Amino acid sequence: MTRRVYFDHSATTPVDARVLAAMTPYHRERFGNPASLHVYGQEADAAVEEARQQVARVLGCQPQEVVFTGGGTESNNAAIKGVLLALMRREKRHFIVSAVEHPSVLAPARQWARLLGLDLTVLPVDGYGRVDPDDLRRALRKDTALVSIMWANNEVGTLQPVRDLAEICQEAGVIFHVDAVQAAPHLPLELDRIPIPLVSISAHKMYGPKGVGVLVVRGGTPFEPLLAGGGQEYGLRSGTLNVPGIVGLATALTLAQEEREARWDHLVRLRNRLIEGVLDRVPGARLTGHPVDRLPHHASFVFPGVDAQVLLPMLDLMGFACSSGSACKVGVPEPSEVLLAMGYSPEEARGALRVTLGKENTLGEVEAFLDVLPDVVARARGASG
Ligand SMILES: Cc1ncc(COP(=O)(O)O)c(C=O)c1O
Repeated sequence: MTRRVYFDHSATTPVDARVLAAMTPYHRERFGNPASLHVYGQEADAAVEEARQQVARVLGCQPQEVVFTGGGTESNNAAIKGVLLALMRREKRHFIVSAVEHPSVLAPARQWARLLGLDLTVLPVDGYGRVDPDDLRRALRKDTALVSIMWANNEVGTLQPVRDLAEICQEAGVIFHVDAVQAAPHLPLELDRIPIPLVSISAHKMYGPKGVGVLVVRGGTPFEPLLAGGGQEYGLRSGTLNVPGIVGLATALTLAQEEREARWDHLVRLRNRLIEGVLDRVPGARLTGHPVDRLPHHASFVFPGVDAQVLLPMLDLMGFACSSGSACKVGVPEPSEVLLAMGYSPEEARGALRVTLGKENTLGEVEAFLDVLPDVVARARGASG
């Protein structure tokens, strides 16, 4: 049997067996609707409230500030659309995002700017994909409602200076939203120390189930709910709660915190070996993103003269599941907007490779990858024309 190695943990992760065990009873024995008053409902409600406490403890916020959602995309949409709707009445018609945001921030930002006639500023980034806090300071206006900047980038792994950005927004009295979907599995968010009114996280990036997330809405944040209905989640997100998913998310987040240091050390060791090996063995390879201020599991490169659409299936055939990190629009490969914003040419951006490691990967797998990569890149280069 051919070996199969999963190197795409920024796309998604397998559910941890302990997470699955915690979730399982809530599918059948304890299947109640937490809004029901009978014993079935009470059991489900108790599980959700316990999960809410756990999440709040790990994130450093109050339980009533934890709003369970249907994942990172929903949390991001709810944050952006919810604040802009709430503040339009106060004549706040301007908002700011960075050029390297995930599509689940950029698309709703562009959509709301168009539909509501709001002014959108897209902040530039440097060659590592970082926002300059001074650029944010200069972009703020009297009528700025919201700033949305991610904690860690999914394509290049770069960490943003979130604390500085948060303090600038707080001083200016502007609501700050942070997409922490990639950061939360690895970094302590310490919301008790950093003033961030809105934070998005997603369970499936941290060995939890797909389709469940959190939007932290700190007390007093102006917010119109995206989903109106039965008034669940303090009226901020209606809909019957995904009880097994919520229990899974809280378990996954708690494990991520408990095992943070061990996972971090393991990932950094593998990642550093991977980066060193790729730069050493593949002619012309360049690391994308920041060399130090980056996610512990994340290695990303560009290979000149290579088309990722050719390279990735070749690597897959060799048993290595990686990605390019760039979005594919209905089968038409577009060069990554993130790499273009960082100053790469469309040709360079087409040759992007993202390797994102997980807690179960081994040094042996990294070495096996390094053994095959130079030849695969050379063949892909020949086939890319
Ligand atoms: C930075 C970032 N934000 C948001 C999302 C979307 O999260 P979800 O898949 O839970 O909708 C992702 C997932 O790819 C992501 O990497």
